[in-house]
Amino acid sequence: MTQLSAAQNKPSDGSKALYGGKGTRRITVRDITLAKERGEKWPMLTAYDAMTASVFDEAGIPVLLVGDSAGNCHLGYDTTVPVTLDQMTMLSAAVVRGTGRSLIVADLPFGSYQEGPVQALRSATRLVKEAGVGAVKLEGGERSHDQIRLLVESGIPVMAHIGLTPQSVNAMGYRVQGRGEEAAAQLLRDAKAVQDAGAFAVVLELVPAELAAEVTRTLHIPTVGIGAGPETDAQVLVWTDMLGLTSGRVPKFVKKYADLREVMGSAAKSFAEDVVGGAFPLEEHSVH
Ligand code: KIV
Repeated sequence: MTQLSAAQNKPSDGSKALYGGKGTRRITVRDITLAKERGEKWPMLTAYDAMTASVFDEAGIPVLLVGDSAGNCHLGYDTTVPVTLDQMTMLSAAVVRGTGRSLIVADLPFGSYQEGPVQALRSATRLVKEAGVGAVKLEGGERSHDQIRLLVESGIPVMAHIGLTPQSVNAMGYRVQGRGEEAAAQLLRDAKAVQDAGAFAVVLELVPAELAAEVTRTLHIPTVGIGAGPETDAQVLVWTDMLGLTSGRVPKFVKKYADLREVMGSAAKSFAEDVVGGAFPLEEHSVH
């Protein structure tokens, strides 16, 4: 695939670009739709608190996902499964408060929409009314069609999520999805189902790059890849992975842009040594 620089990838009227554009109002799902029409690629990051979200908002990241990856990356769980709607509402409200431009998308956590469309609507309504998010995300293709449809008909924009769906880890494990003819055909059916239901975008997680490219060409809504190769319309990474705060192994598809774990750990040690050795606080840090 031809690599374009960020400048080349902007629409000819660069002021409208999702990343690097001049607008200061909050991004809407309509802006996302128009970006696909222009063929513009865009970045998405997760965020779970107001301060981190404000850094990404100021950096121009157009879409922030309050992912239920908060379970692993923020709340100390092993998976996303235990995350509750109350927790997602609290984290999402903080992210909304910390931002001014980014579109905030919040995950509906496991157990908050699987019962059916009415439960999904009740849960999503809390995220929109109490936290102020602009859209919600939920997992599942054909199986979540009716939930997506009712939310969209009720005025709540939905980002779908297919391929590897971490809320189903107990059933599917963490494995590449869509490998082989049968599985690839199912992934395509799932992609078309969420588009048909009215989703404004769809996350493709851990699917072969060629299949993600085919889905991206087939759909008129944008695809957001994570471990899905270079051809999707957008890319998302979990912020603690891409900034090097996550401990231990991170998935192969992650690119590490900083080593915050090292930076924070050595700053904490310097502070501790200063306190123990009497080098902090000094006169300049004291009040009289
Ligand atoms: O919860 C999350 O962070 C996600 C991304 C991995 C897409 O769903």
